[in-house]
Amino acid sequence: MPILNKRTASGFDLNHLELRQNPGSAFSKILERGPVFQSRLPIMGTSWVATSWEAVSETLRNTQDFVRDPRIAGRKNQIWIQRILPRKFKRLFLNNMLTRDGQDHRRLRTLVSQAFQRQNINHMEKRIEAIAIQHLQGMESDLENPAGGIDFISGFCRPFPLAVICELLGLPESDRPKFMNWFSGMSRVRSATGILKLLPMMNRTLNYLEEQFALVRKHPRPGLITSLVEAEAEGERLQKDELLSTALLLLLAGHETTLHLLSNSLLTLLQLEDEKVALTRDWSQAPATIDEILRWTSVIHVAKPRFVNRDREFHGQRLSRGEIIIPCLGSANFDPQEFVEPTQFQRNRSPNRHMTFGSGPHVCLGMNLALTEARIALRAIFEKWPHLDIAFNLEKPDFGRRIGMRTLNTLLLNPNP
Ligand code: HEM
Repeated sequence: MPILNKRTASGFDLNHLELRQNPGSAFSKILERGPVFQSRLPIMGTSWVATSWEAVSETLRNTQDFVRDPRIAGRKNQIWIQRILPRKFKRLFLNNMLTRDGQDHRRLRTLVSQAFQRQNINHMEKRIEAIAIQHLQGMESDLENPAGGIDFISGFCRPFPLAVICELLGLPESDRPKFMNWFSGMSRVRSATGILKLLPMMNRTLNYLEEQFALVRKHPRPGLITSLVEAEAEGERLQKDELLSTALLLLLAGHETTLHLLSNSLLTLLQLEDEKVALTRDWSQAPATIDEILRWTSVIHVAKPRFVNRDREFHGQRLSRGEIIIPCLGSANFDPQEFVEPTQFQRNRSPNRHMTFGSGPHVCLGMNLALTEARIALRAIFEKWPHLDIAFNLEKPDFGRRIGMRTLNTLLLNPNP
């Protein structure tokens, strides 16, 4: 089946394998459909899709015309997946900064934003490095039996960012193996039913977080969950549901996306030998290389849906208030109006205004953390195992089908080929 289904004229298959196998050519096809088009999408239903860099940027930055909260745009109903969620989960999924607009959004973001500012992340560098090295040492026992390669997803790419975000939140180290078990199904969500299957895991996580909040209320400890509890105690700054919802968002967004940045970075560098050689000779190129990996692989395909807040003309289409519009970050990353030779990997692109972290007021809060983790992890990996190589058929990486993301189920590598 093609990515754009001819039978429905504009059906965009957001789950298509080609978006993972060959993002450049796949997203270029999406761009050919025009800067804004209408499609039926999984989970969201009939929606507009913004594809060009300009259209995506405006959808994310123009907060008067495009909002996150459907009620502001005059819709009674959330998108249908939110309608079918049990009340408890709806409350807890929909009470964080990512689902709010304006003043409310600023209040929730400001409560935690300081911890994610560049200078504070810089202070954590030594600790992040120690965590990376500790995890790589932990993989050494797997080397005794490397037949078929070692899986870097379960061995490093998930546990390392999970450990970092747990430390930032102030969650006990002894609980991390439990999270590994709970969260491993997250990368496999392909549909609305898949989301519903995650609910027992979400329930366990929420109960766990509630226990942790109860503990830090009695005995505060370093970390963000204590700061959140203190803000809740002041009442006006944070409500109870917002407290849980924010901690859940940070825990999940703080490791699931970075996991896929790390796996995509390893895959790209092992696929493009010249890039690996250039980087391992000169680590000062790491920030530019990682930015280009974020663009070229487009780890996140789409941002969260926005709701049209007034009838308007938009890039040749007539949008009506209350309709859904999806900013397609992947196609924006391959827009030739913004990027010269967009399908080429060019580590020296300047500027490189890729959209993988989003844009506007909801731009990724954890961007500095994710970039720092990737830079430190890649250096630690290639310094430990300079000959690291792929242990699977290079033509067939084990891509996952998690909707809207370029995920890998496994990444089998051979540290000492
Ligand atoms: C490579 C790694 C990451 C990528 C590609 C990524 C991508 C994104 C994107 C695209 C958005 C905007 C969504 C939208 O506007 O609809 C976002 C928001 C967000 N990200 Fe990340 N993210 C990453 C890592 C992280 C990390 C490590 C954290 C740490 C906690 C984090 C926390 C957040 C939060 C809290 C928001 C919501 C911000 C707001 O609504 O104001 N992310 N991220």
